[in-house]
Amino acid sequence: MGGCPLGGREASRSDAGGEGAPPTAPTPERVPAPHPHTGQMRWDIFTLFPGMFAGPLSESIIKRATERALIEVVLHNWREQATDRHRTVDDTPYGGGAGMVLQAPPLVQAVEAVLGDAPDDVPIILLSPTGRRFSQTIAEELGRQPRVALICGHYEGFDERVRGLIVTDELSIGDYVLTGGELAAMVIVDAVTRLLPGVIDAASLGEESHTSGLLEGPHYTRPLEFGGLGVPPILLSGHHANIARWRRREALRRTLRHRPDLLDTAPLTAEDRRWLEELRPRTPP
Ligand code: ADE
Repeated sequence: MGGCPLGGREASRSDAGGEGAPPTAPTPERVPAPHPHTGQMRWDIFTLFPGMFAGPLSESIIKRATERALIEVVLHNWREQATDRHRTVDDTPYGGGAGMVLQAPPLVQAVEAVLGDAPDDVPIILLSPTGRRFSQTIAEELGRQPRVALICGHYEGFDERVRGLIVTDELSIGDYVLTGGELAAMVIVDAVTRLLPGVIDAASLGEESHTSGLLEGPHYTRPLEFGGLGVPPILLSGHHANIARWRRREALRRTLRHRPDLLDTAPLTAEDRRWLEELRPRTPP
């Protein structure tokens, strides 16, 4: 992703650290290991609807990661920063037009209150359909950060000055429009958390879709026959090398069929290419 994969901080985060801040210890050398931080990863999520996170954060792998202190998710409702009686956070757009625009001051104040003392390189990511497309590569990059802040937009979006003042990157989870950034934030927390050391079995991460640049092939388990369908005999052969080769071929077959664009960048062996040549004429468009 080049030198600044998580986006550069275009404007300084006001006076974080400030002149009066104590001198910081020299930065330890960057370790090129996948996860330079060994402790907990902290997520600060800025949202007007914190209740939306209750289910995803309290179930399954994310729940376990939280209980085991591998991640910490802190929700911040920036409506609390609004000063008027109705705690207003939006207003009509200058220049006219439909919908409401989220005002800059309450959000910027909330982010500064939470991250004002944080290191300057904490990514502050705005979730919006106009962002860069989130991917497995970006999930891996975020997983190397000890702390990440996510901002969930709504309505017509934010006053543009939010981008200049606090946002370091902008991500979209796909080419469609959600009612707000909360679901996108949950997708990102989920995709990143499962990559953190100790969250799930490292062996299963290596074989899954997108890690290898290909889609994963089919899996089978008991019963041996179901709905008139059996299991490919090779999986019952006990011949590990042949099984591995079959799995690779099936991954290539599925990728060619569903996501041929991935084959342009996936690392392929000469044998992969030969197999793809065999498959191509027979795969319907
Ligand atoms: N907010 C609304 N739509 C979104 C999307 N596709 N990705 C991220 N945030 C969003």
